[in-house]
Amino acid sequence: VSQPPTQSSFSSVRWDGDAVVVIDQRRLPAALVEWRLAAVADVCEAIRTLAVRGAPAIGITGGYGMVVGLDEARPAGVTDAHAELARLEASIGAVRPTAVNLSAALGRVREAAERSGATTPADVRTAALAEAVAIHDEDRAACAAIGEHGRQLLGQKRRLLTHCNTGRLATAGDGTALAIVYALQAAGAAPSVLATESRPLLQGSRLTAWELGAAGVDVRLIADSAAGPAMAQGLVEAVLVGCDRVAANGDTANKIGTYALAVLARQHGIPFYVAGPLSSFDAATESGAAIVVEERDPDEVRRFAGALSAPPDIPVWNPAFDVTPAHLIDAFVTEVGVLEPPFGTSIRRALASGGEVDAAAAPVTVG
Ligand code: MRU
Repeated sequence: VSQPPTQSSFSSVRWDGDAVVVIDQRRLPAALVEWRLAAVADVCEAIRTLAVRGAPAIGITGGYGMVVGLDEARPAGVTDAHAELARLEASIGAVRPTAVNLSAALGRVREAAERSGATTPADVRTAALAEAVAIHDEDRAACAAIGEHGRQLLGQKRRLLTHCNTGRLATAGDGTALAIVYALQAAGAAPSVLATESRPLLQGSRLTAWELGAAGVDVRLIADSAAGPAMAQGLVEAVLVGCDRVAANGDTANKIGTYALAVLARQHGIPFYVAGPLSSFDAATESGAAIVVEERDPDEVRRFAGALSAPPDIPVWNPAFDVTPAHLIDAFVTEVGVLEPPFGTSIRRALASGGEVDAAAAPVTVG
């Protein structure tokens, strides 16, 4: 069908005309292979098992998944087609509740199809696919702009610490927090990155270490628990993380462990920056208290890389995300610029701007 992906050029998600094709991130770093998702059950399984992961990437996958679902259902008429899209929105959206990108992308595809005035099921599909492609393209542009805004925000800071994976595997472009790293590297600024392992599913060691290493970035892997001493010993000038859902007041859900890093950064006087596209912001959620945090299979904690590392029936608490309160965040880096406190105001203004992206523009501070 096509060339196998290589370390220097891969797409986390692509559309091949009939199916969504994702990098199967469960197989990394041992193997770089794609998985072709030609049925809704596959789309849901890929999102649920983190074969495809990262807030923007699951949003893009979900958007195309709506088209896969329409093709599978073969609706007889326009009304059936719209009803099918509403069903798909609910079923795919329930797979991972925390990242707002997924539910927002599904809602956008359904609404675009409804607004299109389609008179045949084929027209409904065309409108749905066009919106899924737009979501994909917008994310690529957002990543580029985030990288540039973040690079300028960092000034002379080069020693960075990041968590989970927020790069080319998690988005359609260079990433969010990692787009800033790539922008520094492209500008010849030689960033050096400490990547946390990100237990329990090791997105840091399996994915970020692999991705940055393959790109020639100076990266060192640390156990999650080494972040404190790294900061105390002056190895970190800024913390850069991504986000899965930012509430209207700036409270931010991200990979479990993010909150602890924010507390440590504040204790050591190190700036803590959250990078993400406006598609990860949720104006309808007032504060972090209202964010639903996904809880996952206890075996993810009982096992390490598949092998049992705890008593097989030990009770486990396994939240996939935590919520960092806004007061621990120094700034958000978005495609429309750097958002500063008070975040209630800067987030509202950024969302009202309509998301105009200009990657070449100097960073605007929305305060
Ligand atoms: O469970 P995951 O791997 O999907 O969690 C991903 C994160 O928490 C990322 O930091 C976030 O989605 C931003 S990715 C640009």
